[in-house]
Amino acid sequence: MAKAMVTGAAGFIGSNLSKRLLDEGYSVLGIDSFEDYYPRWIKEKNLAGLKQYAGFKFVEDSLLELDLKYMVKEVDCVFHLAAQAGVRGSFGQFFDIYVRNNIMATQRLLEASKDSKIKKFVFASSSSVYGNTPALPAQETSVLMPFSPYGVTKMASEQLVKVYNDNFGVPSVSLRYFTVYGHGQRPDMAFHKFIKAISEDKPITVYGDGRQTRDFTCVSDIVQANMLALSAPAGMVFNVGGGSRIGLSEVIDMIGSLMKAKPKIDFQPSQKGDVKDTSADLTHAKETLGYVPQVSLEQGLLQEIEYIGQLYREV
Ligand SMILES: NC(=O)c1ccc[n+]([C@@H]2O[C@H](COP(=O)([O-])OP(=O)(O)OC[C@H]3O[C@@H](n4cnc5c(N)ncnc54)[C@H](O)[C@@H]3O)[C@@H](O)[C@H]2O)c1
Repeated sequence: MAKAMVTGAAGFIGSNLSKRLLDEGYSVLGIDSFEDYYPRWIKEKNLAGLKQYAGFKFVEDSLLELDLKYMVKEVDCVFHLAAQAGVRGSFGQFFDIYVRNNIMATQRLLEASKDSKIKKFVFASSSSVYGNTPALPAQETSVLMPFSPYGVTKMASEQLVKVYNDNFGVPSVSLRYFTVYGHGQRPDMAFHKFIKAISEDKPITVYGDGRQTRDFTCVSDIVQANMLALSAPAGMVFNVGGGSRIGLSEVIDMIGSLMKAKPKIDFQPSQKGDVKDTSADLTHAKETLGYVPQVSLEQGLLQEIEYIGQLYREV
């Protein structure tokens, strides 16, 4: 039975990926330090289903503390998703958390991987490395112009991954995720907040004029890209987008009609670090990775609406 390490396994995307790996017969070593960026009980819920599988082992600790060399020796592949996420919080006094949990943690894991026999090291990068790159849709070769400290740490981590690939043959693939949503989405992310506010009949806060656009990607498509990355050539970087770009106001209308409600919107000035538009060119991902997004925005939103309804009903 193949064994996978998933860092950030208690988080939004890591828990979805762990479930898919377990369903496919992998055994999974999940690692997460339960950073307090959002409430612990949500992460506990993410883990609850995984703990039902005999093949799931979980270690609660930080990548900055663990004896990673010993742990990487035990697995066939590493999916590195642990990070301090979130663009807006990465300015000011919290930047050191981003440096430690994104750059330092990645470097430690790569050091531990360099003498191992792992077949693939798959890194969760981000569309935030593009920042305000001038031409959209962004291609993997587009100039990287991160617009937030978070984006800078993801870019540095991605480059470290490439450095260890090229110097030590750590066989790596980096996936640049574009705004991920769906089952388990983090409570600080826009759709989660919108759906919760609408269900409580409260106003939605929109930063900016609502005309900003995003390439939203359903988490099951992100998980699929991670699975495909296991067979991709080492040293490559791929965009993983949802296949369509849409304005924020349009999405809010869509959420409103799916929830049969009329959202009330409170417009606020745009926030530092937020880019105007994102859009992924998927040509390279389609041709080399075999990645084609499967979930329409409407389908993915319905999954998230159901998830959020359940999450807060059970509290
Ligand atoms: N959600 C998105 O839209 C999005 C977009 C682009 C990239 N990403 C990347 O995908 C990955 C997963 O994001 P997510 O949305 O699931 O976030 P998340 O916060 O839900 O999950 C990340 C997990 O990593 C854990 N973690 C942080 N530092 C750690 C450390 N030092 N040791 C062990 N665990 C640690 C946290 O406790 C958390 O549970 C991150 O690398 C993020 O940068 C996410």
